[in-house]
Amino acid sequence: MNLPDLKVARNRQATPTEYVNLELDIKPAFKGQKYFLRTYGCQMNVHDSEEIKYYLEALGFEACEKLEEADIVVLNTCAIRENAKDKVYGYLGRCKHLKKIKPNLIICLAGCLMQEPHEIDELKSKHDYVDIIIGTHNIYELPKLIAVHTGKQNIEVFSNSDKVFENIKYSRDSKVSAWINIAYGCDKFCTYCIVPYTRGRERSRKMENILEEVNYLKEKGYQEITLLGQNVNAYGTDLKLGYDFATLLENVAKTNIPRIRFVTSHPWNFTEAMLDVISKYPNIMPYIHLPLQSGSNAILKKMNRRYTREEYLELFRKIKQKIKNVAITTDIIVGFPNETEEDFLATLDMVETCQFDGAFTFIYSKREGTVAATLEDKVPKEIKEERLKRLNKVVNKYSLASNKRLLNQVVPVLITKVSEKDETKVCGYTDTFKLVNVDAPKDLIGKIVDVKITDAKSFSLDGVLNQKI
Ligand code: 5AD
Ligand code: SF4
Repeated sequence: MNLPDLKVARNRQATPTEYVNLELDIKPAFKGQKYFLRTYGCQMNVHDSEEIKYYLEALGFEACEKLEEADIVVLNTCAIRENAKDKVYGYLGRCKHLKKIKPNLIICLAGCLMQEPHEIDELKSKHDYVDIIIGTHNIYELPKLIAVHTGKQNIEVFSNSDKVFENIKYSRDSKVSAWINIAYGCDKFCTYCIVPYTRGRERSRKMENILEEVNYLKEKGYQEITLLGQNVNAYGTDLKLGYDFATLLENVAKTNIPRIRFVTSHPWNFTEAMLDVISKYPNIMPYIHLPLQSGSNAILKKMNRRYTREEYLELFRKIKQKIKNVAITTDIIVGFPNETEEDFLATLDMVETCQFDGAFTFIYSKREGTVAATLEDKVPKEIKEERLKRLNKVVNKYSLASNKRLLNQVVPVLITKVSEKDETKVCGYTDTFKLVNVDAPKDLIGKIVDVKITDAKSFSLDGVLNQKI
């Protein structure tokens, strides 16, 4: 048993990264049995679940649609806000109930929430029916832990990691668009954020391994890849090999894979060189997710964001100027401890100025172990909720306006799947990452087609094919 410790996670040492080639020998001992996997949280977790899926399938399990059919359940959890946690425990209740009827059901928990010591305490004392608990640093141990499981609760969570694994196998959700990890962890320590504790220190993959993965996916017919990191623009800093994110991006562009995206960019070390590369290569999509978090300098400072609103605006304008037709989206938190009405108005003002193409908005959620969690907070919940509503009104006004600008225009759309809203349609994303439901046949899945936009709502577009097929 290995248990996580937040102090160790915080005071980690910058020891050299060890690159490990994963060579796992997984026996299909569970043939005929079924797995149910549920993922919470961000793209990083979604991609981790593709690794988990590979392991479950290598063990012989087959996916099932309903929890009730499962022989093994894996919940890949998220810790970013309290409501993400509540959802996990809510679902765990259903699993517990099922285990009463199916005593051999194996319940596994993975992901960020498992990196938190107080959650582990709670699981040990109140949820002893949970069989296997792993953290974010040792997903590769899941097949071994399942194979040797004896019925006794087994917890294997490491507080930090100095390792980067290569040769990880994935059972990817899509055959069109793929995630690629370029860096793990985060060293920024924004004061509200639990990620630096749950995902460890910043570790970059070597460029040659990333490029190899891009080429492999390209050969398999993938049309799009998204480079993943908590802070993609910090890529390479830890490697000290003379290359950075701009270098990587340029080399990825040169593979000629049709579409390249990346998330998430931090406004703090977004370089001119990155802008030059993005504007030079047409296969790097004109879309940037640039979290603002707050428009108030006082709050940005308390958040340890390392930029002012003026610096953000300067970067924002430079991006708009340099990248033709770019769309910029953002993340905003309201109700950081003791945020005043004036602070909030400064955030609203930034939204009015930047007119973002879209924004994810959140009410601040206290995360145990972070610096902000120690701040006394006098702002009542009702005020925070009201601020979120006011913010969303402005945010939605601009995302609708941004979508409306595309009305009657012809835009390139990568068709990725059957539309979730209407089975007779397909859907995909524009180069600027806007979701479009398209009246077109299913055999266009995996193709980039010209679509004429016929309707625009706040969160999606409708369109028809504008080319002969
Ligand atoms: N409370 C609310 N929102 C948060 N985020 C990160 N931590 C918190 C928190 N404690 C938001 C940030 C980040 C996004 C992924 O989640 O806006 O960019
Ligand atoms: Fe969290 Fe800040 Fe790191 Fe993003 S940059 S993961 S918000 S600590």
